[in-house]
Amino acid sequence: MLISFEGIDGSGKSTQARRLYQYLKDMGYRVSLYRDPGSTELAESIRELLLRYHMDPTTELLLFEAARSSLVWEKVFPDLKEGKIVLLDRFIDSTTAYQGYGREINLGTVRILNHIATRGRKPDITFLFNLPLELAHRRIESRTRFEEGNYLRKVRDGYILIAHEERERIVMLDASRGEEEIFEDILRTLRERLSLPL
Ligand code: ADP
Ligand code: TYD
Repeated sequence: MLISFEGIDGSGKSTQARRLYQYLKDMGYRVSLYRDPGSTELAESIRELLLRYHMDPTTELLLFEAARSSLVWEKVFPDLKEGKIVLLDRFIDSTTAYQGYGREINLGTVRILNHIATRGRKPDITFLFNLPLELAHRRIESRTRFEEGNYLRKVRDGYILIAHEERERIVMLDASRGEEEIFEDILRTLRERLSLPL
């Protein structure tokens, strides 16, 4: 079972991913939580490069996909094979939203590279944390270079389009609510859609 958490920076996805990880562990499930980009030695090094250097959008795209490929190959596939539940803090939809809709790289190109990096494995379910930009900005003090105004607006709108295109996989959550309410929503969705006895 592969579950991804998506949304703009500050939308609360890491908070809920960590919470679900702990909850599932306490229930006795075997579960892992990874961040993309990152979570392997190589992918963490690529993450540092992405944060350190300004680069053209295509180089950026390829580095995100290289990091993802490493994560999928070294961690996600072995864990799934062992029967673990794998939680991902960001995954393929981040690239479609940030590099595709945000940086305006051809969406077909992004799709193909996502497919190559993941060997075609999509999440079984994706939670999209939908939050107005202003609220997200208020929640996080520091902003990285990925988070400039107009750019982030395109990213957020892109996420909503992606969710409409893949309604079976992507569940859009109202992320302006309190932590508790959102978490209950996530558990309810997992019970209903994946028949998990939670
Ligand atoms: P993301 O991983 O999407 O960037 P985080 O989970 O790191 O977001 O949350 C960003 C900030 O907002 C953190 O300070 C966190 O404590 C806070 N936060 C998370 N969820 C909520 C919520 N439902 N309501 C208010 N603040 C929240
Ligand atoms: P991260 O620090 O994990 O996000 P957050 O601040 O929400 O915890 O991700 C770093 C940045 O990388 C974030 O602004 C989103 C961006 N990103 C892309 O542009 N493309 C991608 O494919 C991914 C996975 C992330």
